[in-house]
Amino acid sequence: MKRIVVLTSGGDSPGMNAALRAIAKLGAGQGLRVFGSIDGYDGLIDGNFRELTKVLSDGVVTVDIEVDAAGGQGGTIIGSARSMRFRETQGRVVAAEQLAKLGAEGLIVIGGNGSLTGAHALANEAGIKVMGIPGSIDNDIGCTATSLGVDTALNTIVEACDRISDTARAHRRAFVVEVMGRDCGYLAMASAIAMAADAVLIRESGKSEDQLVDDIRQVILSGFARGKRRILIIKAEGVTAPCTRLVRMTEERMKQELPTLEIRATVLGHVVRGGSPSYADRAVAGRLGFGALNSLLKGATDEMVGWLPPVPGGTPTADSSVVRFSLERVLEETRALIDGSSPVTKRRVALMTQASGVLAL
Ligand code: F6P
Repeated sequence: MKRIVVLTSGGDSPGMNAALRAIAKLGAGQGLRVFGSIDGYDGLIDGNFRELTKVLSDGVVTVDIEVDAAGGQGGTIIGSARSMRFRETQGRVVAAEQLAKLGAEGLIVIGGNGSLTGAHALANEAGIKVMGIPGSIDNDIGCTATSLGVDTALNTIVEACDRISDTARAHRRAFVVEVMGRDCGYLAMASAIAMAADAVLIRESGKSEDQLVDDIRQVILSGFARGKRRILIIKAEGVTAPCTRLVRMTEERMKQELPTLEIRATVLGHVVRGGSPSYADRAVAGRLGFGALNSLLKGATDEMVGWLPPVPGGTPTADSSVVRFSLERVLEETRALIDGSSPVTKRRVALMTQASGVLAL
């Protein structure tokens, strides 16, 4: 193998650049030229590539200086997109032609569910070896304990909630804070525990809007009765009712009980997706990048490298924390994580239900 392509696709996540840097460095170390596809799968279709390595005059392959410096930056220096064209067979045919034209024999895809679905399709339709790396702040990818960006996103949420807690305590207020996670409430659950939030609202619990309002009312009543000055409720984006609506409904329901009650709503949104990657995300990115590249060189295809998977099995790599799984299995487990049938989701929800009494103390 002389040339490979790497792309970042779907929602960007902190750690993507660290993975690109690791792949470029490790590739260069083996005399491999590494190209980035600009804006995810769209770059493959358009033949829009940027070399992440550099060939010196004596023929030695090294890393592009900008790529080397980007490891600590958030976002992705090669851009990301959710390509509609790649969903069509014709788009994938053109992408495979462009890869062949470049002389690339391997492809590494860094992204979430949709991106890995595309990787699986290409691996099966085109004569190119494809490896995936999980990259999504939502932690909604099967066969991996974490994906790039999760740790940084949680650190950002915790920092934001600390700030919100300061002002909440100053005014004796309740806050409903929404965090990202369209299909998966992991960020809300994990940050609620770290923040000792009073309650967490997740789609996975299957509660109606009315029940959610009731939960908010309960923790506000009991919290303020115990002398608390801050009531913090963390809501996952997947709960479709907007924060402001839940706040209005709760205030309306409680206007006789607590006429002076003030509840505020904060949506953290994309603030949580940006920012420079934490140590953990950089380290995981480097090690998954190494695992993905080595797997490609050993001839693996249609697989993803996962980080300390919560399920037994898989093919071990040189790094004991990095394990390869077929993309078919990854996508199956991702579906189960999202639709709630996965034991991992069930365990998370059961844990949060158990914790809810303690959180409200
Ligand atoms: O990266 C996943 C995610 O963070 C989801 O939680 C969220 O719904 C989505 O991205 C929003 O992404 P965009 O604004 O790019 O469509």
